[in-house]
Amino acid sequence: MSDAPDAPDAPDAPDASALEELTAAASAAQAKAHCPYSNYPVGAAIRTTSGEVFAGCNVENAAYPEGTCAEAGAIAAMVLAGEREIAEVVVVTGGTTPGTPCGGCRQRLREFAGPDVVVTAISEGATLQITMAELLPNSFGPEFLE
Ligand code: THU
Repeated sequence: MSDAPDAPDAPDAPDASALEELTAAASAAQAKAHCPYSNYPVGAAIRTTSGEVFAGCNVENAAYPEGTCAEAGAIAAMVLAGEREIAEVVVVTGGTTPGTPCGGCRQRLREFAGPDVVVTAISEGATLQITMAELLPNSFGPEFLE
């Protein structure tokens, strides 16, 4: 039997390990958050359709409105690398309820993510999986300007 090919993975096995990798990237980013005002660290990780992973954390500012969200940082890193197509997103927060992307970040993600892209929001002990279409229904996007 040693020559037999490996059994094929269960259909969801690659997705599970991909999600694990993305979650690890988001958690590592969360650990770097600069959030002395809210004490609410957030990490976000994006996988692009080419398989690359980009992460970001929230960066707060003493002039409060100048702070930036974790998703914005991950998107900036993605664009800087020349990538534009989001395949999957993970957001990691503290608290018992998973922190979903804020309204502004839903729109920021929408620029680069189709309606079926799944956003996984993970907090301490709870996970929520939701699509972009659910997060931002009837949304406005780049195609409106074509
Ligand atoms: N925050 C994010 O980083 N992403 C979101 O989508 C929700 C909110 C940050 C902004 C601020 O630094 C802290 O969480 C509390 O609002």
